[in-house]
Amino acid sequence: MPRRIDPGRKLVLASHNPGKLREIESLLRPHGVEVVSAGALGLPEPEESAPDFAGNARIKALAAATASGLPALSDDSGFCVAALGGEPGVLSARWAGPSKDFNAAMAAVNEKLGDTEDRRAWFVAALCLAWPDGHTETFLGRVDGSAVWPPRGGKGFGYDPIFLPTGGLLTFGEMEPDEKHAISHRARAFAQVLASCFGRVASSSGSGA
Ligand code: IMP
Repeated sequence: MPRRIDPGRKLVLASHNPGKLREIESLLRPHGVEVVSAGALGLPEPEESAPDFAGNARIKALAAATASGLPALSDDSGFCVAALGGEPGVLSARWAGPSKDFNAAMAAVNEKLGDTEDRRAWFVAALCLAWPDGHTETFLGRVDGSAVWPPRGGKGFGYDPIFLPTGGLLTFGEMEPDEKHAISHRARAFAQVLASCFGRVASSSGSGA
């Protein structure tokens, strides 16, 4: 049975990634929920040991909800390339190494692709809401496109500069935040969170993942 989050209720954002925090905060802003980040509460980052996005999202949301005593929303997401068998996928953050060098991670994708013609790529986001009693709800969103080279634009984060959504002219790195929110994997998963937990009609359709 889906649970609701009441207006005015405090929600922990179970992420330490500044790019994701910025996007999730702006998606939540119109819905009257008070948000606090896991970092601001001094919560540790749990190990992401699951083999898939949904499992890792659940680990992060449950850890934050049980440690804080508040409902928590997590995001586990990644960039997947068809010709690389879906990699970097759940290892998207790890490809950037301990210094979080996403220029190096994007270069690694390009190098591995070499002159492969198949450039199909997609982003996946799993958003998980967890409550302190262990109840969880997980929502998946996906956006398809292609991996381009060289990187274009400095507006997003992570792999945004090498992702061109299907039918578009701008990479995610070249888009204004609102343009990315209109079609992104995260916004598609978030639309389902809104419909289920806030009782709002989704403004962006989720395609699942
Ligand atoms: P994790 O979910 O903490 O394992 O990290 C996911 C990684 O995937 C991020 O560090 C980014 O590199 C990448 N990623 C996820 N969503 C996006 C996005 O919207 N744009 C660009 N990169 C993303």
